[in-house]
Amino acid sequence: MIEPAAYSALDSQRFAIRVFRGRADNVEAAADLLQFARSTDLDLLIVRCPVEAVAAAQALERSGAFLTDTLVYYRGPTSGFVLSAAPSPSVRLCQEADRESLQATARASFAGFFGHYHADPRLDPIAATEGYVEWASSALADAASVVLVSETDGRLSGFLTARKLDAKTWEIVLNGVAPEFQRRGIYAALFREIGCRARVQGASEVLVSTQLANLAPQKVWTRAGLVLDHALYTFHWWKA
Ligand SMILES: CC(C)(COP(=O)(O)OP(=O)(O)OC[C@H]1O[C@@H](n2cnc3c(N)ncnc32)[C@H](O)[C@@H]1OP(=O)(O)O)[C@@H](O)C(=O)NCCC(=O)NCCS
Repeated sequence: MIEPAAYSALDSQRFAIRVFRGRADNVEAAADLLQFARSTDLDLLIVRCPVEAVAAAQALERSGAFLTDTLVYYRGPTSGFVLSAAPSPSVRLCQEADRESLQATARASFAGFFGHYHADPRLDPIAATEGYVEWASSALADAASVVLVSETDGRLSGFLTARKLDAKTWEIVLNGVAPEFQRRGIYAALFREIGCRARVQGASEVLVSTQLANLAPQKVWTRAGLVLDHALYTFHWWKA
């Protein structure tokens, strides 16, 4: 029998608890997940639920699960990516020698982030931030990933990681700009560069996601011609 939720080794190690993840596309799936969670040795169940599955979301709420974020997914063609003639911060491929600066930039940009880990008061916020640091850093060793960094005033100011899902689609996975460099167009420059690279390498579309409340990236994406594709709620359910 296929279990409705999977053990998450990364989350479990990060927070030193037993974490499972599952998906509730309808009321029946939500009921299966909750029954599984009650009868399994776990501490935390993380559930993703399409926003249109309102009855499933309500079933999760009635069981004590609580909302921790809403993810919005955008998709768009690479044909709209054109390098701007306007001066932009220098953006280049990240090298192994940048690893420490990349980690420091990820740590600074994701401290106190409003993703589902930080939104759960029972999870250690420092461990939550370190999760993003590891995530950014691990992309450096992944052959299917592209990691870009920006340099401003001689310092590494921002980063963006993307993954080639297939020949057609690149997914932008994680990005951040250190607080002291924010609101200077650095994210927009990183995004433009990855879109151009995807197009030049033959990809026809990009896929990207963030929290609904994260307005800055959504402004950049819509200007580049991406459109909202779908959205998912994230719920956390604790056993005790
Ligand atoms: C999101 C983030 C990468 C944006 O980086 P940035 O370099 O400051 O972004 P830009 O300067 O390119 O700004 C892009 C647009 O968003 C706007 N913007 C930037 N920060 C904003 C904020 N906190 N609230 C609302 N709008 C914001 C900018 O004004 C700009 O819009 P405009 O051209 O209409 O003025 C940065 O804030 C960050 O690292 N945040 C924490 C981590 C994160 O959210 N990562 C993204 C996950 S998808």
